[in-house]
Parts: sequence; structure tokens; C-alpha cells
Amino acid sequence: MTDLSRRSLAAGAGLLVGAIAFGARAQQMAPQLASAVPLPKVTPKPLIINPDKVKGLSGALLRTHHDTEYANAVKKLNAVGEELAKLDFAEAPPEKLGELKRDEQAAQNSTVLHEIYFDSLAEAPSQPSGLLAQAMSRDFGNMDRWKAEFAGIGRSLGSGTGWVILAYAPRDKRLFNYRAENDSMAPAGGVPLLAMDMYEHAYAADYDKDVAKYIEAFIQAIKWTNAERLYREAMRV
Ligand SMILES: [Fe+2]
Repeated sequence: MTDLSRRSLAAGAGLLVGAIAFGARAQQMAPQLASAVPLPKVTPKPLIINPDKVKGLSGALLRTHHDTEYANAVKKLNAVGEELAKLDFAEAPPEKLGELKRDEQAAQNSTVLHEIYFDSLAEAPSQPSGLLAQAMSRDFGNMDRWKAEFAGIGRSLGSGTGWVILAYAPRDKRLFNYRAENDSMAPAGGVPLLAMDMYEHAYAADYDKDVAKYIEAFIQAIKWTNAERLYREAMRV
């Protein structure tokens, strides 16, 4: 189980325990409805690669991306969690709750997708193997066709935001390439295996506005062992 899975599980368990406690307290007195149920703090994952050795993406770009953009998403997720824990949901203005839940979803998605993004890069790229290679052939025909769709989706996100996500859909028991125009858009029910960041901060320092060159560099730098591991886990969902 990944750290993220553990955190998600812990968050789910925390919410369940909180819900039970909440029900018991609701029988007592109204002011206690606002009792805080703290969400687990998320800790940023360190880079597991040497960013200076990833071909096609500079160490400076990867460090800034990881240490600033990804770290800010984690900070935002924790900050929103603290605010939600303190909020009296029954009394809070709907607009305030809506704003926090919107920010929570965006920060959660950004955190998850950034972690997959960085875990997919390597000094020594690889090709899919094993069960994932079989699934790629089954669902895309061949790697060239997968790549053509994945890269094409990336080029369609030319406004400097969004993600391209290779995901396993347990409902359909197959792989899809998904297009998310921003952090808030993630495929319902899809388990992300590979994520390509199309926010400008992911490429502008190295490629300015040449997204096609960035996309090629990212795909060439993929270490598929991470997606293979996530696929094995996703098949158990
Ligand atoms: Fe990013």
C-alpha cells in the first residue's frame, strides 16, 4: 500500500470514526456539533530521483516544480483541512463551505497527481512490461496509438493548465487516457496510473510555450514501473 493509499485510508477511517462520534454528540447539545474532527496532515513526498539526471527536463525546473508548486498544493490541502475541521457545517454560510470544498478537491487532486508525476520520472526510462503491457495492447492496440492519444490530449491543453491522466477504470475494467482542464477535473472512478502536468510551471522554464517538445521529453523520461505497481493495486479495487 502506498503512502497516499495509507493517508486516504486513514482519512476515510478518520471520517468514519468522526461520523460515529458526531452522531453520539448530536444527541446531547447543539454547540458540540461544531467540534473539530481533525483531518490527518499530509506530508510532501520527497523526490526519489536525481533531478539533474532526468533527460529532457532540467534539474532547476524539476526542483522548483516539486519544492514550490507541489509543496504549495500540500500546504493548501492541509490549510483547507484545518479550516474544515473548525467549521460548524450546520451554521456556516453555504458559500463558505462551497469555497472550502472546491479548494479541498483541487488541492487533493493536485497533490495526488503531482506525486504520480514525479514518481513516474527516472534517470533510466523504461517501457511497460508484464500485466500493464498486456493491458496497454488490449485497450490501445499498441504503444504508438496510446502515445498519439496521450500526447494529442496534452497538445489540446495549450492554455497552460490541466493534466493528461492514464487511468484504470474498475467499472469498465480497462485503461483510458483522460483530459482534465484543471486540478478540479478528475475522472470519476478512475485510478490514476500516470499523470502528465500541463500547467505552464511544468515546462515553461525549459520549453517556453513549446508544449509539443515538453510532451515528448516527458514521455521519453517515463519509468513505467511506477504505473505497473499502481495498475496491480488498482486491479484489486
Ligand atoms: Fe505542477
